[in-house]
Formats: sequence, structure tokens, C-alpha cells
Amino acid sequence: MLLHDDGKQEFVSREKKDRRDFEQIAALASRMGLYSHLYSKVAVFSKVPLPNYRFDLDDKRPQREVSLNFGLLKRVNAYLGEYLSKKSRNKESFSDNCFSRSSSNSSIVTEEGLFEQPEPLASGTAVMEKILLRRCSLLRDQQQAWQESLEGREMLEFRQSLPAYKEKDTILTAILQNQVVIISGETGCGKTTQIPQFILESKIDSARGAFCSIICTQPRRISAISVSERVASERGEKLGESVGYKVRLEGIKGRDTRLLFCTTGILLRRLLVDRNLKGVTHVIVDEIHERGMNEDFLLIVLKDLLPRRPELKLILMSATLDAELFSSYFDGAPLIHIPGFTYPVRTHFLENILEMTGYRLTPSNQIDDYGQERMWKMSKQAPRKRKSQIVSSVEVCKLLFNVVKTELYRFV
Ligand SMILES: Nc1ncnc2c1ncn2[C@@H]1O[C@H](COP(=O)(O)OP(=O)(O)OP(=O)(O)O)[C@@H](O)[C@H]1O
Ligand SMILES: [Mg+2]
Repeated sequence: MLLHDDGKQEFVSREKKDRRDFEQIAALASRMGLYSHLYSKVAVFSKVPLPNYRFDLDDKRPQREVSLNFGLLKRVNAYLGEYLSKKSRNKESFSDNCFSRSSSNSSIVTEEGLFEQPEPLASGTAVMEKILLRRCSLLRDQQQAWQESLEGREMLEFRQSLPAYKEKDTILTAILQNQVVIISGETGCGKTTQIPQFILESKIDSARGAFCSIICTQPRRISAISVSERVASERGEKLGESVGYKVRLEGIKGRDTRLLFCTTGILLRRLLVDRNLKGVTHVIVDEIHERGMNEDFLLIVLKDLLPRRPELKLILMSATLDAELFSSYFDGAPLIHIPGFTYPVRTHFLENILEMTGYRLTPSNQIDDYGQERMWKMSKQAPRKRKSQIVSSVEVCKLLFNVVKTELYRFV
């Protein structure tokens, strides 16, 4: 009966049955390709797998009828409708997301669903490839449009003034040719804001933007957040588009996020559940001189990972870096130094400046030791003077009071 009725999914029998009877019927149902379960005294046979508990078949569960007034019912229905439509939209974008990520998708479940990656699709590789390529060209168009805009040009001008920009080609070539690169540079030269951007921009320019995934670690939450905001604004985007961040209990990351700033702890957490960092193409460890347990442990884990992921690139950065030490730890990884903002320093003596400016010294305009001393003496004397003034006023008051008192006694 159940098998022949396409519209029916299950058959519920409330006839009292002995457990042995049920076992026999269940065996028969199983031979017919059906699932069965005995819920207390109710037997269910179904075309789909059955859960261990069914609240609708639990007679002991208190049943309560809740009546809602019309207005509330209307609101509840509206919320439900909104929720269901959102859910279906999310479902669509989730399946879309399957394609947006790198080709080696995997499902990684972490505490906060941070690096969630959908299950690989068994079929549709060609479709996936096509969608990824379309996303690559979309990213490239967006980047070009920003670079050609007025604000984009102004921002580029500023970025080009940074010392890191002058080393852009050297850095990109080194990264291309080596699995590990160590970069040092004076503070403010543009390591944190520029180097991850160089990689992202070069990938987007070569129409491989959707295939890259860069993680840049920061030692502190505040720097991960502020740097991501800065980089997003340098790219003329909002946070959560191609640039995002993730720190504990907080993050902004979107479907198309290709550059993620996170704390060292967050990357370690990911490594716990995803030993091979699937889908990640570049790991940038910033401020490696800030040695802590997490940071050192991260480097050990990453060193261990490199042979398993030969295509993964590791970039280590710092301002004050014991570069040789890190280079030797990573089997002689190449070092790049970005020269900082250094300005030539020349010494000028006051006499020379006076001579150069033609300033003439007269007894009234010169400030010599005597003048300074006099000013100092005057400033020191000022409070004393004020004090003596107050004392004398008090004395005058006292005198006046005594005079008034004497006069009053005379009258009384
Ligand atoms: N939030 C911001 N707003 C404006 N300009 C910024 C901001 N962040 C950085 N910059 C500019 O970008 C330049 C490069 O900053 P960046 O943080 O990349 O330097 P860095 O080499 O990483 O320095 P450090 O060694 O201190 O980490 C700075 O000198 C500054 O001029
Ligand atoms: Mg920095």
C-alpha cells in the first residue's frame, strides 16, 4: 500500500505489537526497502530513514494548544515567510559559494564556522570552472574600474610613495620562485598593507583572482581589524568584499573574500581541523619578531606543512627581524629588505644660521644666559609676591575689624 502510493511517505501503526512481532515485520519491511522504527507502542514504516525520537508520536509528552490573537498570528506568519524566503536565498548563494572558492573545496567545521568550506560537488566540474573564471574576470573588471577612478588614482599615488611599492616586482618574483620568502623593512614602509595587496592584485590582474586565498596573520586583534579596514579602503571596497578579517568571536568575511587578516590564534585553530590548509594559496605571517608561544608554534606547524603543500607560499614579515635565524630555520629561504624612509641628516650650528639669514644681534633682541636667568627669577618671584599681597590684605582686614569693634563697644 505504502510502496504503491507515491504521495505517501510513511505508514503509522498504533496496533499493539509485541517487540518480537515488530522485529519480524521490520525485517520484512527492510527486504522491501523500507525503514522502520518502534516508538514506544507505535510502529512506523517509512520510505526515508527515521529518527530515534518523534515528538508527534510521544503520548507522554504534554500537549498544549496555544491560541494566538489575530494580530500576533499575522506577525508570526510574516516572520516565518521572511525566514523561509531568506533560507531559500541562502541556499542558492551557498550553492553559488561552492564555486566561488578554490578548486580544492572541503568542509571545515570550526567553533565559529570561520573557514567553512562547502562539500565538493561530485558533478559539474566544468560548470564550476566556468563560474570561477567568470568570477575572476568580474574581480579584474572591478579592480580596473577602481584603479582608473579619481580616488583610485589618488590612492595609487600614495601607495607608490611607500618604499614597499618600489620593491613590488622583486617581492612578487621572489614569491613566485620560492616557497618561503622572508621580508624585512623599516616600520611604516608598507609591509602589512601593501604586500598582501601586491599578491592579490597580481592574481586578479592575471585573471586568477577567484583561485587565490591569502591569509595574513597579525599578533593582535586590533591590528587585524584596523589593517583589514585600511586595505579594503585602499582597494575602494567595503570590508567583507575581497578583503575581510577574523578574530575570536568576531569577523567580517564574504563570499568573495580572498584576503583575510586574522590573529595567529585563529590560524592555529584552523590548522587543528584542517591540517593541510586546503584552498589556501598564501600564508603571510606578519610581525614574526613578536615571538610568543602561539607564534613559534605556528611556524613549527607551517614548516611541517610545507612539504605536504608544495604549491602553498609562506611569507614571513617583520620590521626588526633576526632574518638569518628565520632563514636558516626555513632551509635558507631568501631575504628581501625594504629600505625605509631615511632622510639625509646635516648639522647646522646656530651661528651659521644667523649668518645665513642675516639676523643682527642687538642688546634688546638677544637671549643670553643673563636674560634667561632674569626671566626665571621673575617667574619664581611672582607667586611669592602674590602671597605677600594676600598676607597684607588680611592684616588690613584684621585692623579694620578691630576698629569697627572698638567703635561698637563705645556705642553700647
Ligand atoms: N589606517 C591608516 N590610515 C592612513 N594611512 C595608513 C593607515 N595604515 C597605514 N597607513 C599608511 O600606510 C603606510 C604603511 O603602513 P603599514 O602598516 O603597511 O607599514 P608596515 O611596514 O607594516 O609598518 P610596521 O612595521 O609598523 O608594521 C604607513 O606609513 C601609513 O602612511
Ligand atoms: Mg606592519
